[in-house]
Amino acid sequence: MSDIISVKAPVNIAVIKYWGKRNEKLIIPLNDSVSATLDTKVMCAKTSVCARPDFVEDRIWLNGVEESVKNERLQNCLIKIRSIATEQQSVEKDFLQWKVHICSENNFPTAAGLASSAAGYACLVTALAKLYKVKADLSELARLGSGSACRSIYGGFVRWHAGTKPDGSDSVAKQVVDSQHWSEMRVLVLVVADTKKHISSSTGMKITAETSEFIKHRVEVTVPSRVEKICDAIKQKDFTTFAELTMKDSNEFHATCLSAYPPCVYLTDTSHKIIQIVHFYNEMCGSPKVAYTFDAGPTACLYLLEDEVPKVLSLINHFFPSSSNKDFVKGLPCPTLENIEFLKNSKIQPSGNDLIKYVIYTKVGDGPIILNDSDHLLNENGKPK
Ligand code: DP6
Repeated sequence: MSDIISVKAPVNIAVIKYWGKRNEKLIIPLNDSVSATLDTKVMCAKTSVCARPDFVEDRIWLNGVEESVKNERLQNCLIKIRSIATEQQSVEKDFLQWKVHICSENNFPTAAGLASSAAGYACLVTALAKLYKVKADLSELARLGSGSACRSIYGGFVRWHAGTKPDGSDSVAKQVVDSQHWSEMRVLVLVVADTKKHISSSTGMKITAETSEFIKHRVEVTVPSRVEKICDAIKQKDFTTFAELTMKDSNEFHATCLSAYPPCVYLTDTSHKIIQIVHFYNEMCGSPKVAYTFDAGPTACLYLLEDEVPKVLSLINHFFPSSSNKDFVKGLPCPTLENIEFLKNSKIQPSGNDLIKYVIYTKVGDGPIILNDSDHLLNENGKPK
């Protein structure tokens, strides 16, 4: 009988985006990318795994619903970890024959528009690697589940090196700085009301890689230079450079998506309005004080330093009024909002109510952690609690 292993893992938000694969099956990207790992106290995935001789088949439950284990990406992770365990003889031969039960949950709604697969796969491989006692680069394993998951293996700011080897063994994430290095850094996730179903990132990046004339320039010219510059800016805590590169990369990424055929459209009118307001605010401040970035959906992530949070929240409140102020800001304690004088002179009109559903206030945090027995999602019979 084996113990239950439970792990909690973070979400990450890229500032230089991963978009396009050089190998679809092994999930090897066309370019390096850089992200910040977000605090698991605010947003996280939790996974419990357990192997036993009496389990008849591998099974997985995601957010309370049993899903098929036949999922190719899940299989790739399981097969790889079991084959490393065989090679390293890290567990008894019998143990390798036992089936596993996996139970995973996110503490944030999928509707928040944040990719949940990154935290989910980072959790899964960390838990399975411990269960099978394998020694391996966990970022390489997490990558097999979802590309961006490899960056959730580390805390702080993280760079995923695309690598050059055909087998993907050098396509791994490395920490740039830990979570304490730039401890003033904060993130506001503006969850945009969204009814449209968007093209998934996997499909979107495939269409873009196959049809966009722009992606070559992005992969060969702009991204390599931005990655070096933003890593330096992060090390030096140079917010101006960091913010400019983050916004430029988000804009170029979405322009590249639009250059696909058919185009991949992720931003909405509300996203564009957020962009406009951030530029207005930065201009009034005389230098960039806040940076936006958007993934494959309309939800905005704003990077800013802690002392800007009261002003930027009041900026959002002004332009995107909410019909219920209760719980509009979730996550870290909401500071008292500060009035901004120059808002009165703005030509930009406030929107109608509730275009931003709510805001998640968070900060840069650490990588995955192993949880205590009391936090298991599986009971002693290996079934979801
Ligand atoms: C826009 O990691 O979700 O968030 O590797 O196919 O699972 P797969 O894609 P995924 O793509 C994330 C794309 C992005 C940018 C980023 O996180 O770098």
